[in-house]
Amino acid sequence: MTILLHEKLKLRYPIIQAPMAGGITGPELVSAVSKSGCLGSIGAGYMKPGDLSSLISEVKAETELPFAVNLFVPESQNVSESEIKVAYDALQPYRGELGISETMPALQEMASPYHEQLEIVLRENVPVVSFTFGMPASEEVRELKNQGVFIIGTATSVMEAILLEDRGVDAIVAQGSEAGGHRGTFSGPSSQHLLGLMSLVPQICDFVSVPVIAAGGIMDARSFRAALQLGAQAVQMGTAFLTTHESSAHPAYKEAVLNAREDQVVVTAAFSGKEARGIKNQFIHGMENETRILPYPLQNELTKSIRKAAAEQNDAEFMSLWCGQSPRLSRSQSVEELVNSIIHANKEART
Ligand SMILES: Cc1cc2nc3c(=O)[nH]c(=O)nc-3n(C[C@H](O)[C@H](O)[C@H](O)COP(=O)(O)O)c2cc1C
Repeated sequence: MTILLHEKLKLRYPIIQAPMAGGITGPELVSAVSKSGCLGSIGAGYMKPGDLSSLISEVKAETELPFAVNLFVPESQNVSESEIKVAYDALQPYRGELGISETMPALQEMASPYHEQLEIVLRENVPVVSFTFGMPASEEVRELKNQGVFIIGTATSVMEAILLEDRGVDAIVAQGSEAGGHRGTFSGPSSQHLLGLMSLVPQICDFVSVPVIAAGGIMDARSFRAALQLGAQAVQMGTAFLTTHESSAHPAYKEAVLNAREDQVVVTAAFSGKEARGIKNQFIHGMENETRILPYPLQNELTKSIRKAAAEQNDAEFMSLWCGQSPRLSRSQSVEELVNSIIHANKEART
């Protein structure tokens, strides 16, 4: 008999709350999701190692149930001081608009926290670790497996899924083009990896033998059922959890998602240098034809002060409003209400 993914992870329901880096997945959200019978995930992407350690302890203090930590596989970029200066200057109108005065950040000295974060998840015995933007190294996979950690990779094409399976991951998130947030693409230009979930999930299912988790535009029982019907063993939902009461997303951000239309959601590299899906605002509009954008993670570092000032000033026009393609289906509700609505509607549909 096949053991399903959620049974392996000791979950009541095959639902994973997407890791959402940038301060959204605090202890309240992650623990509420795990307590609801699903898998809560910490989006550790940009976190300082010390902050990640504290957050893991806070989640553990709330629940003994399993949860995941998500890491960004690092990418190194070689850019010159003059290229940095040009991209920095291109952002001056936005800093001016928000009244920011700062000196250019020393990007050359930027180091990824990835290896230290990985040490922490191993030390803290985190049961599930997921990755995006690339594949963990073979030695890292071996080390995680030796410790019994369940490993999840992210793919936006069949080729990426095959590479991840070969690397030894235990399950694969198939991230459709509907998905909010950054594209997880690591095998070529992300503009060539914008496959809808309807195409992506069954094709990945046919080419790998590990369980597939569908992500992108899944908001309610209808899309949950559809994803399972396509062959996924579980779903990963970001936008739907972002507007829950327990999420730590900025109130203006939640409002923007709750009021957005599907045709306002676009893919942009302006905030971080890597394509991500979010609600079009004044910043994205202004940067539309801008070519002076650094690759990720450098652009992300350059726009940090803008995003921070915008949050302090409650100004959603300059925040990164990552959001999937189904914002009209978002609700202001508790995690329990969201999960119950999916599970109960699903049960009713089956009877
Ligand atoms: C605000 C936000 C932040 C995200 N951050 C991450 C992240 O840190 N790591 C990751 O693997 N995926 C991240 N994602 C992508 C999700 O894993 C998932 O692919 C996406 O949320 C699915 O689409 P949906 O938002 O329509 O549910 C993020 C998504 C959103 C909406």
